[in-house]
Amino acid sequence: MSPEAPLGVFDSGLGGLTVVRELRRALPHEDILYQGDTARVPYGTKGPETVTRYALACARHLVGRGAKAIVVACNTVSAVAPDRLRAELDVPILSVIEPGARAAVEASRTGRIGILATAGTIASGAYPRAVTSRSTRAETYGQAAPLLVPLAEEGWTEGEVPELVAARYLEPLARAGVDVIVLGCTHYPLLRATLEKVAARAMGDGVVLVDSARATAEDAVAFLRERGMLRSPGRPGTTHLFVTDLPASFEAGVRRFLGSGFDSVTAVDL
Ligand code: DGL
Repeated sequence: MSPEAPLGVFDSGLGGLTVVRELRRALPHEDILYQGDTARVPYGTKGPETVTRYALACARHLVGRGAKAIVVACNTVSAVAPDRLRAELDVPILSVIEPGARAAVEASRTGRIGILATAGTIASGAYPRAVTSRSTRAETYGQAAPLLVPLAEEGWTEGEVPELVAARYLEPLARAGVDVIVLGCTHYPLLRATLEKVAARAMGDGVVLVDSARATAEDAVAFLRERGMLRSPGRPGTTHLFVTDLPASFEAGVRRFLGSGFDSVTAVDL
């Protein structure tokens, strides 16, 4: 596979553009093909078999368009489907779980780590497994936070309502005495300021929020560099988007999650 080939990224919807945003920053010369399964979002409330089936369709589409590697931006897919994706596809599959777990272990002083994620990700136990494989002294505390996804999609990221919701979800993590919280969902980086504020109120200023999107971009750079798969820096990279449904709110969603322009959007049927 040529290093000049594009990098494929996919998610259940537009939330994975938070990962693309970090990839763009870390890898400005890569061409990115992004598949958002906007017709079937959310994945976080669905069972592992269904999520795996949808994930395979997204990944196959990107491989069919020539992707040299796939970054699974969706935490729920990364939690339940990476083995199937690796078994069935011929390109490297990078997930968001290991980078998020690595960043959490590095950031924690006490080894008490909170995981905030979708119900599917929490139920899979993927983050606790990834954390304990890196640190035997670490203890994880999972908290499903499903209401944060629609709040981020609505752009309702600050003020009384998101603060109340965040306080309810963070309260058990505060009781557990965690000093690090993993934002284990594509959508949560948009609520970072609110989560930080509420976490500081409940747990003091020392608590650190770890963003799995940022950690994933760092790992992707190392992965591509080590294997000689980085695109040559001749021109800035492009961003082409594919969606399974083009909702009226598409432009606003892209602005919110990606925060920058893109080259094209194409509706596809998987
Ligand atoms: N992309 C999902 C994740 O990171 C969140 C949205 C969904 O439930 O599909 O887990």
